[in-house]
Amino acid sequence: MERLISPTHSLKGTLRVPGDKSVTHRGLMLGALAQGESTLYYPLKAGDTLSTAQVMRQLGAEITEQGEHFRIKGAGLRLKEPDDILDCGNAGTLMRLVAGLLSGQEIFAVLTGDASLRRRPMGRVTLPLRQMGARIEGRENGQLAPLAIRGGGLRGIHYELPVASAQVKSALLLAGLFAEEDTEVVEPAPTRDHTERVFRHYGLPIEVEGRLIRTRRAEPFAAKDLTVPGDFSSAAFFIVAALITPDSEVTLEGVGLNPTRTGLLTVLKEMGADLSWEVTEGQDGEPVGWIRARSSQLRGVVVDPQLIPLMVDEVPILAAAAAWAAGETYIPGLEELRVKESDRVAAIAKNLQNLGVPVEAGPDWLRIRGGHVAGGGLVEPFHDHRIAMAFAVCGLPKGVTVQDAEWASISFPSFWEDLERLAGKK
Ligand code: S3P
Repeated sequence: MERLISPTHSLKGTLRVPGDKSVTHRGLMLGALAQGESTLYYPLKAGDTLSTAQVMRQLGAEITEQGEHFRIKGAGLRLKEPDDILDCGNAGTLMRLVAGLLSGQEIFAVLTGDASLRRRPMGRVTLPLRQMGARIEGRENGQLAPLAIRGGGLRGIHYELPVASAQVKSALLLAGLFAEEDTEVVEPAPTRDHTERVFRHYGLPIEVEGRLIRTRRAEPFAAKDLTVPGDFSSAAFFIVAALITPDSEVTLEGVGLNPTRTGLLTVLKEMGADLSWEVTEGQDGEPVGWIRARSSQLRGVVVDPQLIPLMVDEVPILAAAAAWAAGETYIPGLEELRVKESDRVAAIAKNLQNLGVPVEAGPDWLRIRGGHVAGGGLVEPFHDHRIAMAFAVCGLPKGVTVQDAEWASISFPSFWEDLERLAGKK
């Protein structure tokens, strides 16, 4: 579906973005492993997380929709052998985390996904999970899905992550709940810590010593309600939309402000953004609050590569902000962006070019010359929800056409409607 966005002169209002994708995946998985019934409040109900709900049902949990929420009846620590393949759709987080879970189960299961997910690197989880004792087969010797897993009999390992990846860390921590001896994971740089927080919420073993995270075999644990905060990554689109559109002021409410997610706020502040935020509560272990963004004249910056793991999903929308900034923005440390839902370095460069913005791309960096966005450009999502939304925002003030706009529903089904409402077009 193609979507035509007319030039937008102002964005005003308050928005509560949908639930956090990362926390929803984890809430569904741990609710499924618990004993008894619980409610997952305000989860994200979108392509990726509906895939997780379906996979956990196939593994023996009862998951039903209750209004906005999910009611989950856990299967306990022993999951059921699924009678068909498990389709992870577009969701890398689901495939990698559930590979960890399945490694701890004495059952046989096959994981697959859409064309994008079947191209993404799985060796980063299959290698350490095999070291723990799981039997895993897959294309190219376990580098690519489909993956066939027969788990059980795991031993704990001490593993230094070769890449800063919360998905790999989380896969090993989930497997560690079923292993003899401790499982220790060392991160090269801090990454989102939702798994650690959710483990604490459920009383599961978790210790953090600097970059080292340790877990061990879990005892059966009781179900417990969990409330999901608004997704910072979804809020990010509206933050930048308000900054680059004249006469705008947007307030996002109930947003997760976990410091391992909010690197974008630091960079936007350096760029001169009129931006404020406050943590107002701790909600089941996650800091939550509001963010307010107003129209701003941004300036180009050199981004600290250490911040990239703390804003890994926000690089496309940062590139959109850079397109509107005065001067040049240099973003290094982007090697992981090459293996997301699309090759995001290439997809960002192509879309900036489509919008008339001078850009250079290296193997792991982007250099963007701001201030040249042309009207009437074309956004090509490359089957990637965040590319569709980021460049729709980039084209907002001057008008833009978005191809395959339905990709937004992978993480943000109400995106187009929310945009129209704040633009006063609806
Ligand atoms: C996620 C971790 C990130 C992120 C993804 C969600 C998670 O991936 O890009 O959208 O929920 O753990 P990596 O940790 O592999 O970079």
